[in-house]
Amino acid sequence: MMKITIDTDKPGAKINPAMWGLFFEDINFGADGGLYAELVKNRNFAFPNPLTGWHKLSPSKARGQISVLSDDPFNLHHPHYLRLQSQGTDVFGIANEGFRGIGVKAGEAYNLSLRIRGQSGTPALRVALYAENGAVLEEIELSDFASGWEQRTAVLHPRATDAKAKLYLLLVGAGAVDIDFVSLFPENTWKKRPGGLRADMVQALADLKPGFLRFPGGCIVEGSELDKRYQWKETIRPVEERPLLINRWNYEFLHRPTPDYFQTFGLGFFEYFQLCEDIGAAPLPIINCGMACQFNSGELVAMDELQPFIQDALDLIEFANGPATSQWGGKRAAMGHPEPFHLTMLGIGNEQWGPQYIERLAAFTTAIRAQHPGIQLIASCGPEPADDRFDYLWPKFRELKVDVVDEHCYARPSWFFDNTHRYDDYDRGGPKVFFGEYAAQSDKMVSVENVNNLECALSEAAFMTGLERNADIVAMASYAPLFAHKDAWQWTPDLIWVDNLSVVRTPNYYVQQIFACHRGDWTLPTEISSKDQTQPIYASATRDNEGGEVIIKIVNPGDGQEEAEIALTGSGKVQDIATAIVLAAASLDQQNTLAQPNQILPEEAAFTITGNPFVISVRPHSLTVLRVKTRVR
Ligand code: AHR
Repeated sequence: MMKITIDTDKPGAKINPAMWGLFFEDINFGADGGLYAELVKNRNFAFPNPLTGWHKLSPSKARGQISVLSDDPFNLHHPHYLRLQSQGTDVFGIANEGFRGIGVKAGEAYNLSLRIRGQSGTPALRVALYAENGAVLEEIELSDFASGWEQRTAVLHPRATDAKAKLYLLLVGAGAVDIDFVSLFPENTWKKRPGGLRADMVQALADLKPGFLRFPGGCIVEGSELDKRYQWKETIRPVEERPLLINRWNYEFLHRPTPDYFQTFGLGFFEYFQLCEDIGAAPLPIINCGMACQFNSGELVAMDELQPFIQDALDLIEFANGPATSQWGGKRAAMGHPEPFHLTMLGIGNEQWGPQYIERLAAFTTAIRAQHPGIQLIASCGPEPADDRFDYLWPKFRELKVDVVDEHCYARPSWFFDNTHRYDDYDRGGPKVFFGEYAAQSDKMVSVENVNNLECALSEAAFMTGLERNADIVAMASYAPLFAHKDAWQWTPDLIWVDNLSVVRTPNYYVQQIFACHRGDWTLPTEISSKDQTQPIYASATRDNEGGEVIIKIVNPGDGQEEAEIALTGSGKVQDIATAIVLAAASLDQQNTLAQPNQILPEEAAFTITGNPFVISVRPHSLTVLRVKTRVR
């Protein structure tokens, strides 16, 4: 039998309330085609091929023409618009395919909006939703168009649910119209905000009780070249004016090309801060430090040209926190949020390395500290958890006295099981650690074979017991990437999988959720000993102040049930009934899928405590959390 001894009256480190958080990047259709609920792809004909996502519809008797023009546009920022011209012999028009289809649900309302002007004749415009099988789900007609641009809106109510519907725009009658900015959003977005976020995806985030939300990535921060970097100021313009940028994941992996992947920034920095506020997560933006992705061009901004990049960081802080009377705080107020967003952390660069990074980081830290000494600065420690780049950077970070170091790791489950003691001997005198991107890879990094199985999830849970035990040095951690669309992903594994209608929470998701929901306030010294136990077990314990509970986490990745004797030393009477939360499955290979999303779910039950010490049977292939009420002597 294994023995777990927990000193309940010797609390160790205070655990950062924001310890377990989220990493968001627009990868795998995470934002456009995902969290940003717009259902029309290339709504403003701004893609390099202006008709990407659109298909001409021409019944046999129809005579007409489609063209893309840019003279006298509705929007000077994206001048392309569509002209539909019909001889009126039959309906004639164009269809949008959405993001791998348009997901619509029967009984729900969808808000259509478009810009239109009449050119000739008096044709009507039929707007219809067609199911994948060709059935009409809904159709309405707009008519009497002015000769200048005007916005028209309508509410569509599809008759049936379909994950791959299409939106048709058909001219009825002879004549011509100009069309631009064709948009369709579910009315039921998160908090019912017009033009908002997909409610079920945000709900999945909210249910994780995240301590922070890192944004916008990831490599997307850097850009493969500097002109493709993420520029936050562009994302707070009126939505029609936000730029279009080719998504770096459009072309990054030759084995997973996604030629229709572009960033519209409909989910921009205002929406990001608002999302953080909605789900109770501290904002953690990562800003470009004057370096493009070092896996790509590695393009550098010269040191004497770095100031605009530093100013972007300073302005972002003002946008988040400045008074409504300040320049950037005023822009936030004008967008509807006069109160500050309470930004306290900022990451400088993502996966950077080498002396060029240190030079630029030093310039950023000096300038930001001078104006905003209260902002915690996070430095990137490169892409690997241990290599020459990593070894070069850490001493430099100590010299620069950065607050937090962002470490990343994508590796086999064995790495996570083997590294549960990684932080036991870390230098406590320097910066804290943000384990800012990690995920166990069932095959290998960037392999398309990687899956979100239980083995990976349990290896992450085992590793997280090590992070938790070392909460005095490890301040935060986040799994990456967050979202993937089943028909448009580039990177696997991912925490949450979606299609156009539903969301799958992986076992890895439940591990994150369990740690966040059962965090505790203080670490408790925990010792595991065993006489005859053959398979490794991982454990950590914390104390929850409010409920006066000891929270014990035990990971048993092995095939056999384990009897564990748990001794809570230093505690007074232990209450008879505890709560046990168990995430387990018959096999380590098991996954949750869109077809079977609930194969692996946490189960909660009462657990009877027979005394102190007491014995618990730990299920094979499991993460078990036990919440025991005690009174400290
Ligand atoms: O999470 C996917 C990618 O992995 C991130 O963009 C990058 O930071 C890391 O290499």
